[in-house]
Amino acid sequence: MKSVHTAVREQFSQHANYYAQSSAHAEGDTLDIILDFADPQGAERTLDIATGTGFTAFKLAPEVAYVIATDLTPEMVAKAAELGEKKSIKNLAFSVAAAESLPFADASLDLVTCRIAPHHFQDVPAFLSEVRRVLCPDGRFCMVDSVTPEPEKLRAWQNRVEWLRDNSHVYGYPPSAWDAMITAAGLSLEKTAHVRNAQMSFLWWVRPEQNPPEVVQEVRDAFASLSPDEAKEHYTVHPAGDDFYFSWPMYAVSARCV
Ligand SMILES: C[S@@+](CC[C@H](N)C(=O)[O-])C[C@H]1O[C@@H](n2cnc3c(N)ncnc32)[C@H](O)[C@@H]1O
Repeated sequence: MKSVHTAVREQFSQHANYYAQSSAHAEGDTLDIILDFADPQGAERTLDIATGTGFTAFKLAPEVAYVIATDLTPEMVAKAAELGEKKSIKNLAFSVAAAESLPFADASLDLVTCRIAPHHFQDVPAFLSEVRRVLCPDGRFCMVDSVTPEPEKLRAWQNRVEWLRDNSHVYGYPPSAWDAMITAAGLSLEKTAHVRNAQMSFLWWVRPEQNPPEVVQEVRDAFASLSPDEAKEHYTVHPAGDDFYFSWPMYAVSARCV
């Protein structure tokens, strides 16, 4: 069986340009909340894990001492470096690295961020243990990721739908599981918030240029199988002709190294 890291690299190496142009990743509440929760004072040695094409790193760089932007996929790191250069951001460094095995010394960083990525990670407890290891005493971890509703039925539904559309999806945890895993890693929860990504067109999100028609139909049927209340309350589904718009629930956390 293909390893999760191989699946991630195969998926994301083809999509560096797509992400670089994605307004859902370039802007929005999830970027603002990372900055707000991080509350940078200007001197933070910062690491952005799974930086993708660098949007979180670019947002943080003017507010901290420097940002090291890392990602498992070399093509994403290359695109982030190209965009950072175009933006003339000087205090950025880049590195290809897995979230579960960070090439940084113990207690060497003040701030670690990670946005819309852990649902692709092979081993979230290993990622959190690495975050804890590289943070200095009192250092801060801020993350936002898509999460699943607490009821088991919807959790299984959402994880299946996300995996059908993108086989590099591993698992979306509910907020209660995040709180427990972060605490178990030796970090102390400071702030949490329930947020959402921007409304997305189903026909854009499902990537019909990549996924075969039967997969697109299976995902569409899965949305149709939700009750009207589930569709509205958890996924903000709004019909729009042949298309519909929806959003994923997201969870934002800041935690301190204790
Ligand atoms: C949706 S993109 C990230 C978006 C980005 N953080 C932002 O704020 O725009 C997900 C990224 O996670 C990376 N990724 C997935 N699994 C990873 C892992 N185990 N370690 C490091 N990066 C990983 C992928 O290569 C991809 O670039």
